[in-house]
Amino acid sequence: MPAEPTARYLDNHATTRTDPRVVESMLPFFSERFGNAASTGHAFGDDAAAAVETARAEVAELLGAEPVEVIFTSGATEANNLALKGVLGTSPTNAHLVVSTVEHPSILDPAARLQRDGCQLTRIPCDADGRIDPETVISALTPDTVLVSVMWANNEVGTINPVIDCAQACHDRGVIFHTDAVQAAGRVPVNCRNLAVDLLSLSAHKIYGPKGIGALIVRRGTRRIRLAPQIEGGGHEGHLRSGTLPVPLVIGFGTACRLAREALESESNRLSGLAGTLVEGIRSRLPGVRINGHATDRLPGNVHLGFEGVDGDALLAGLRQIAVSSGSACTTANPEPSHVLAAMGVPEALSRASLRFGLGRFNTEEDIAVAVEEVVTTVERLRGVDNSPRPTVR
Ligand SMILES: Cc1ncc(COP(=O)(O)O)c(C=O)c1O
Repeated sequence: MPAEPTARYLDNHATTRTDPRVVESMLPFFSERFGNAASTGHAFGDDAAAAVETARAEVAELLGAEPVEVIFTSGATEANNLALKGVLGTSPTNAHLVVSTVEHPSILDPAARLQRDGCQLTRIPCDADGRIDPETVISALTPDTVLVSVMWANNEVGTINPVIDCAQACHDRGVIFHTDAVQAAGRVPVNCRNLAVDLLSLSAHKIYGPKGIGALIVRRGTRRIRLAPQIEGGGHEGHLRSGTLPVPLVIGFGTACRLAREALESESNRLSGLAGTLVEGIRSRLPGVRINGHATDRLPGNVHLGFEGVDGDALLAGLRQIAVSSGSACTTANPEPSHVLAAMGVPEALSRASLRFGLGRFNTEEDIAVAVEEVVTTVERLRGVDNSPRPTVR
């Protein structure tokens, strides 16, 4: 059912509104600057190629990477597939892969596919906050392990992982390390310059850029990572990802990365403040509200709450003035409770009665006030709390 047109958008982990400055930067590349970035040797192609390289440098700059390490893809789903299938595609058939249980389906599904095709797979557990302990990573490694993939920040509960330590532990043992940094890049500092991260995925539409463009960062540090390309034909992107580059999207991605870098600190402080107001506002008026995810090591704009004693579907359906996500990740196609909350040990009923709020650049204090009021009154109504004015007893 479409949300009310006036609904406040609080689902910025799912996607973000494209920043008007990003749209502005893209527009000329749909019209007068329409060249193919691979058709150099004339002004149109040269212009597109130069603009693409400027954007590539902006993406690299956000992450402390080198421009040559940025491989443009159609988004993070493709980048994650390229990382996993690319590394395993250049490894022995029965090589060992380690992923965490709380990864996005764009990691879990290719990992399951690779397992069906003969690779060994270990899914490592998280703790009650959804965090992956580097010791758990280390204990999962075997002499056959070629790749470990642990996300930088979780897309449901916002927990930030000790990726630096996980990566170092893998490097010390000669294992390639990949991180899905989709929710972290552009929201919290992600700098791979001095990190043992070999491969990193990100996506433009989570940071106020356009949908349909992302990147896999393939580090060229101490050792060369060999990847089997998943899309061939033309040799674009250093033969790792063929296909004509969507120049307007690439330009928008570059602008989004620059804006995110420039605003990183102020934006993350502002969003932490709004998140605090939201949590306080709801918990000061409602009992039985549990915070899911890590108390402090979490994405600044993420609030994930479980409401005891209410039906999750009825809760979501009752919220007409705000657009948020169900904690159960429940869709008609997938009525399963969230695999992330299950891995954290959250009871199924509470998982189904959880909400994910994703605050972003365009949210205001007024949005938060509306959200608090809407959530409190809806939960009270569902819990059967009568708040109607009582007749005065004389
Ligand atoms: C953690 C994480 N990884 C990967 C993806 C997939 O990104 P894309 O939409 O660019 O394919 C998402 C999107 O929801 C995500 O949150």
